[in-house]
Amino acid sequence: MNQAFRQCQNLMVTGANRGLGLQIVESLVLGGFSPGKIIATARNPEAAKELQRLAEEHCNIHIIKLDVTSQESIEKATCEVEKLVQEEGLNCLINNAGINVVADLDTVTADKMLENFHTNSVAPLMLTKALLPLLKRAAAKGTGMGIHRAAVINMSSLLGSVELYWGVRANTFKWYPYRASKSALNMITRCLAVDLKEDGVLCIALHPGWVRTDMGGPEAPLSTEDSIASVLSVIGGLTEKDHGSFLHYAGKKLPW
Ligand SMILES: NC(=O)c1ccc[n+]([C@@H]2O[C@H](COP(=O)([O-])OP(=O)(O)OC[C@H]3O[C@@H](n4cnc5c(N)ncnc54)[C@H](OP(=O)(O)O)[C@@H]3O)[C@@H](O)[C@H]2O)c1
Repeated sequence: MNQAFRQCQNLMVTGANRGLGLQIVESLVLGGFSPGKIIATARNPEAAKELQRLAEEHCNIHIIKLDVTSQESIEKATCEVEKLVQEEGLNCLINNAGINVVADLDTVTADKMLENFHTNSVAPLMLTKALLPLLKRAAAKGTGMGIHRAAVINMSSLLGSVELYWGVRANTFKWYPYRASKSALNMITRCLAVDLKEDGVLCIALHPGWVRTDMGGPEAPLSTEDSIASVLSVIGGLTEKDHGSFLHYAGKKLPW
């Protein structure tokens, strides 16, 4: 499946300075199946030492500054991406940057909800919207669906599944802002999938597993390497049948 990345000329991942985003970049370049260009974004590239080190060793990594919650930053980054990809367009956008504002019913406030919504739901939509001309440019050159053509991967979470948070699975991780933001991201993914089907831009929401990152914490069962090996295998194998789905990192479909 990972061979598919060789047919992906240009891939972009947000929040690539640490956690799952950084691991995506590292696994792609070290795995021997790297896309032509990897556009790795960070809101503070100067501080992204590990990403900088990788970029020094692998000339197909291009670091771009991007705060996903700033429209000005999205527009600046889009111009830089366009310069990099030119007529090829953008084949794969991974909306990975995210935050977890922990708050239960006692502590939740409107500000906490809006902060989480802004980063996890609104920002991926606005970034995708800004990059659409480049995604459509890439899609216009291919047939079928997948990363050889154009794809938007929204990094979601099982915690965003409305259906799964019930019965025996309820009463854990009572995080109103995070859960609701990922449910909203799931719906945004479905809306995009409906709107972009004609253009051949594949859209999915993907759960990476519970992973040992700053967000996932030290007790999470999965390493970043294992999570991203599965995530990349799923992304590499995407076809028409996956369009508009919510997928688990092992590839099975999840209930919304
Ligand atoms: N880890 C898990 O168990 C798990 C499970 C399910 C889903 N996920 C999802 O997977 C994605 C990555 O999670 P992670 O575990 O790698 O989290 P992480 O270790 O906390 O890293 C989050 C990344 O998002 C970036 N980010 C946050 N706000 C941003 C903004 N406004 N603009 C640009 N970048 C921003 C961070 O950049 P800074 O360094 O600048 O803050 C960082 O690079 C998230 O969407 C998360 O919800 C994770």
